Amino acid sequence: MVRMKNVGILTSGGDSPGMNTAVRAAVFAAREKGIRLLGIQQGFKGLYEGNWEELSIDKVDSIHAMGGTVLRTARFQPFAKEETRQAAAEQCIANCKGKIDGLIVIGGDGSFMGARLLTLNGLPCVCLPGTIDNDISCTEYTIGYDTALNMVMNMCDAIADTARSHDRCIVVEVMGNKAGDLTLYGGMAGGATAVLAMEYGDFGFPEDGEMTAEQIAHFEGTLVERLKLAKAAGKNYYMIFVAEGITGKKDKQGKTRYPGGVEQLASVLQAQTGIDTRANVLAYVQRGGCPTARDRIMATQMGDYAVGLLAQGIANRVVVSQCGEIQDYDILEGLNMTKPAHPRDYELAWRVSL
Ligand code: F6P
Repeated sequence: MVRMKNVGILTSGGDSPGMNTAVRAAVFAAREKGIRLLGIQQGFKGLYEGNWEELSIDKVDSIHAMGGTVLRTARFQPFAKEETRQAAAEQCIANCKGKIDGLIVIGGDGSFMGARLLTLNGLPCVCLPGTIDNDISCTEYTIGYDTALNMVMNMCDAIADTARSHDRCIVVEVMGNKAGDLTLYGGMAGGATAVLAMEYGDFGFPEDGEMTAEQIAHFEGTLVERLKLAKAAGKNYYMIFVAEGITGKKDKQGKTRYPGGVEQLASVLQAQTGIDTRANVLAYVQRGGCPTARDRIMATQMGDYAVGLLAQGIANRVVVSQCGEIQDYDILEGLNMTKPAHPRDYELAWRVSL
C-alpha cells in the first residue's frame, strides 16, 4: 500500500451547513496521520484548474460553526455531460500527479459519480454525503439536513404567526430536489395543515413532465376538501407544505409537475374555498445558517472517518450513517440502493393537523 502524503478535499453541488465542520475534522484527522490536507476551491472545477492550497489548523479551527462552505462550491458541467466527462477526469488526474494522492468529496449523488470516475482513473476518492435534501439512498442522514429542517420549521412558525393574524392560508414551497423529507418533517414539526411530496399519496406525480388534467383535478380537489374540513373544524389559519419537486423543479423540457407552481395552486385554493390564500417559496434561506449540533457532530464523525479510510488505502467508498453507526459502502452500490419512504409518518402528518 502506498502511504498517502497529500489528500485533497472539496465541496461540490449545493452547499450545506456542516460542510465546513467536516473539513475541519478532516484537517485534524489528517494531521494525526501525518497527511497534508489540501483544500480545493469550487469543487471539481478547482481540481480541473489546479486551484488549491494547504489547509492548516489555524485556517480551519473556527469554521465548524459557519454555514456555507469556505472552500466554495460549483456544479461542474464537464462531469455532467457524457461527451466531456472522461477528458475532464484526465485533466484533473494530470493536475494531481505527484501533488495529490487521494481525495475527499463532500456533496450529493451527482458529486459521488464524479468521485467514482476519478477513482477509476487512478485518484482514490472517498465521499461524504453533504446536502440539505437528505436524498442519498444509502445513508439515513446527510450533512446539512438537520439545520435546514430546523430552518424550515422556524420559518413555518413565523409564517403561521401572520397566517393566524389574517385568517389566511399560505402555500409553502420547500426545497429538497425530488425528495420530500424536508417537506414532510418540516411540515410535521411546524403543524402544516397538509404536506405534499412526490413519494407519497395517491396523486400519481410523474417522474418527468406535467401531471394529467385528471391528476391535477384530484390533487386540487383533495386540498380544497382538506381546507374546508379544517375550517369546519374551527381552524382559522392553514399551511399547505408542498415539495419543490411538485411545484417548482423543472424537468429537462422546462416543465413542472404541477404547472403554474405555488402561485397557481394558491389562486385555485382561494377561488374554490373562499379562504384568502398566498404563496411563499422558502428558497435559499433554507440552505444557509450555522450548523446545528446534530450536523456538526455527524460532520465531525464523517470527516474523521473519511481520512481514516484513505489512510488505510481504502477508496471508492461513500461514508454513511446507518442505524446510528458510521459505515461505508462502495460508491456505486450505495447509489443503487433504494431510499426508504416513510408512509406512516406521511399519514401521521396529515392526521395530527386537523
Ligand atoms: O441540493 C440542494 C438544493 O438546494 C435542492 O434542494 C435544490 O433543488 C437545488 O439545490 C437548487 O440548486 P441551485 O443552487 O443550483 O439553484
